Amino acid sequence: MIKLKYTVLFVLFVALVSCDTTAKLSKEAQEEYLSKGKDISQKTFKLLSGNLMQQMQQGGPSQALPFCNLQAIPLTESIALQENVQLKRLSTLYRNIKNKPNVAEERILNTYNRALINGEKLSPVLMSSPTGKPQFYAPIIIGEKCLSCHGTVGKEISLKTDSLIKTMYPKDLATGYKVGDLRGIWSIQF
Ligand code: HEC
Repeated sequence: MIKLKYTVLFVLFVALVSCDTTAKLSKEAQEEYLSKGKDISQKTFKLLSGNLMQQMQQGGPSQALPFCNLQAIPLTESIALQENVQLKRLSTLYRNIKNKPNVAEERILNTYNRALINGEKLSPVLMSSPTGKPQFYAPIIIGEKCLSCHGTVGKEISLKTDSLIKTMYPKDLATGYKVGDLRGIWSIQF
């Protein structure tokens, strides 16, 4: 029953998204923004994870954590500037409060989470922002490499790493994840 409800909600969500955008953008323009969104989010992911892995290899989480703390947002911003878009990584269970979603973004996160629970495939979506601008969202999924900082404390996250995380982010919400969980979303406004 619950599963059916979520499926219906997700289908409704997809339908709403499609109606919303088709009203304002041609099919070709939608495809183009979707593909641009995918490119930009993948490029940012590569930049962030490339730097992260380098730091991890050099000094493990105690070197990579301060690096993320200082560089995650500036690195993301550098691509936003280059691509002339607004680019964010958002999560309901955020580490940095600057990545806290607003109400509309939280709705997208919840919809993705429900779809994931239902075993549905999560795909990027294109919709229209309240100001009528093309707005892209895509899911961010937890992989093996993320667990040393977003996994379970005492299991994948060492006690030393945990205390470092709590020093930098006293109100951290971003632990307890497993591989395949939804960590957050990319949000790109063109
Ligand atoms: C070395 C530790 C470390 C690893 C490994 C790591 N992260 Fe993070 N993550 C952080 C830190 C620190 C922040 C907060 C960055 C900031 O302050 O801007 C963060 C923030 C995030 C955010 C933004 C939302 C939030 O909670 O603030 C996302 C999304 C995210 N990480 C996804 C991932 C994914 C996906 C992986 C694996 C590919 C990963 N992280 C691996 C440390 C890590």
